[in-house]
Amino acid sequence: MKKHITLIVGARPNFMKAAPLLRALKTLPDIFRPTLIHTGQHYDPKMSELFFNELGMDKPNIFLGVGSGSHAEQTAKIMIELEKSFSQDRPDLVVVFGDVNSTMAAALVAAKMSIRIAHVEAGLRSFDKAMPEEINRIVTDRLSDYLFVTEESGIRNLKAEGVPSEKIFFTGNIMIDSLTASLEACKRSTILDDLSLIPGKYVCMTLHRPSNVDNEKILREIMTMIISIADRVPVVFPAHPRTKKKMTQLGMLDSVSDGRLKIIEPLGYLDFLALQSSSFFVLTDSGGIQEETTYLRIPCITMRENTERPVTVDVGSNILTGPHPAKVLEAVQLILDGKAKRGRIPDLWDGKTAERIVTILRTIA
Ligand code: UD1
Repeated sequence: MKKHITLIVGARPNFMKAAPLLRALKTLPDIFRPTLIHTGQHYDPKMSELFFNELGMDKPNIFLGVGSGSHAEQTAKIMIELEKSFSQDRPDLVVVFGDVNSTMAAALVAAKMSIRIAHVEAGLRSFDKAMPEEINRIVTDRLSDYLFVTEESGIRNLKAEGVPSEKIFFTGNIMIDSLTASLEACKRSTILDDLSLIPGKYVCMTLHRPSNVDNEKILREIMTMIISIADRVPVVFPAHPRTKKKMTQLGMLDSVSDGRLKIIEPLGYLDFLALQSSSFFVLTDSGGIQEETTYLRIPCITMRENTERPVTVDVGSNILTGPHPAKVLEAVQLILDGKAKRGRIPDLWDGKTAERIVTILRTIA
């Protein structure tokens, strides 16, 4: 009997994690029957469809189309629809990725239906429950049977929470599988020319975390600071829909967008990879971008108080500043003075994580 494995994706950061695993499972059609379910948490073509095309990922077998809502609404809608899907075509194993609402919702449904769960990117902890992702991570890990970990801190965290060692597998960072596989293709991107950018002479920025964007005072402070940085080095900011919406509501969009601060639409995977890999440095509050810059050895300033990915600070090129202008500007000055740390690539971030996960999945009944 083939093992029916259902991969769940929903939001932008899931797609580059699922693509390599789906591809690897499909190379063994006698052993696995993989299926893909997209919850529709992210629905804008630029946040979803474009990634499928660029990552060479087959269309989902099932699209639930749940869309946006409050956390409870979104999570509940995903659960209701997933329960129907799992009842119609019950998988032997559900694989969830990362820490978005779709991840936790799928884990809850699978656990209640006694379907085994594998969590890719398990064990990360910011120890900050004000982050919705931290709650998603804790719940998902608690319910998972196979925990695939990206960095050593994940092993420590899970053991400290009492997860038995035999459930924990240090398999490395699957997002780096997509990154390494796309480095050649991203060279064909025309994004630098399109935006009239010179390699190494601009800042790539992202900002979407509720703690930075939903608070008017913090958002205004951050954008004022970004304008002052843009006076020294041009800044390119592909804005997440929630950030754009907030800036529009506050009437900030027109006032901050001038020639040196370019606020643009969200980019696809290859254009964004091209943009960050040729940048002078990156300013972000994202989770995954801390890891991508560490792999690319591009200096990264993370406008968050904490990180669930400490290896990017301890080993990689990441500096944590919080959203505080004085601290961010201090880090910017360090980089402008040529004192940025470039770090090294963490263990098992080598493009072979999907292979290692599949080897483990072969051994489970
Ligand atoms: C989600 C993840 C976050 C991840 C981020 C990456 C959770 C709790 N958060 O946050 O961890 O870093 O994705 O992008 O799962 N919207 C659109 N179009 C879309 C999607 C969203 O306009 O395709 C707007 C909607 O107004 C929506 C808001 O963005 O209400 C927030 O979307 P949501 O999926 O709830 O969370 P993200 O902020 O995207």
